[in-house]
Amino acid sequence: MNELPRLGLGADELLSTTRAVRKRLDLDRPVDPALIDECIELAAQAPTGSNAQGWHFVVVTDDAKRRRLGELYRAGFELFYGDRAAAEAGLPADDPDYVATTRRVIDSAEHLARHMGEVPVMLIPCIEGRTDEGGVMIQASVWGSLLPAVWSFMLAARERTLGTCWTTLHLLHEREAAELLGLPDTVMQGALIPVAHTVGTDFKPGPRRDLSRVVHHDTW
Ligand SMILES: Cc1cc2nc3c(=O)[nH]c(=O)nc-3n(C[C@H](O)[C@H](O)[C@H](O)COP(=O)(O)O)c2cc1C
Repeated sequence: MNELPRLGLGADELLSTTRAVRKRLDLDRPVDPALIDECIELAAQAPTGSNAQGWHFVVVTDDAKRRRLGELYRAGFELFYGDRAAAEAGLPADDPDYVATTRRVIDSAEHLARHMGEVPVMLIPCIEGRTDEGGVMIQASVWGSLLPAVWSFMLAARERTLGTCWTTLHLLHEREAAELLGLPDTVMQGALIPVAHTVGTDFKPGPRRDLSRVVHHDTW
């Protein structure tokens, strides 16, 4: 049996180099299902409100289902970013570095949208209950009981030479994806996470806007 790959990253390096991987997903290399199992086991160590553990992890490897999810994702991308000028209209003119980074992100996202259906593994994390009618306390508690686990999955994946990218655009076609996967009406999908080995394993911290804009002490 092959030994499962590990990078041996320190905690700070893992936290600062787990990137949204799109162009460097290796679409041709298979992913050992045991790696996905390990990542889910670690993900399930994340906190949940009232210890509810209402999460579900739908792992999609079936060819036809991946292809269809890829189509739904692409359609969502076209709806959201099809009018590129409109998508970029709200970017802050006084922060050219951020504008340039965001334009690169959209280019990269377009690449992923073209290839989503070819990614070897997709994770669709779901949560029991719906927040369609809920106030902020309910929304924060329900989503807060799923999303930390998803990020843990992505960190665990990075440590195992797998790349991931948080995506949500397929949710513009939430019902179609739910029907494809046989999800009950009582759950929500939180994301679509493509998972593949990365081309190379060296990743750097991402550019971020100046934190002095957003860090507040005692008052806003
Ligand atoms: C809630 C959320 C939704 C996102 N949706 C998408 C998406 O639909 N498609 C995509 O390519 N990237 C998506 N991203 C990834 C972001 O574009 C990415 O995290 C951001 O540009 C920063 O890049 P980095 O994670 O490599 O630092 C999403 C990220 C988050 C947190």
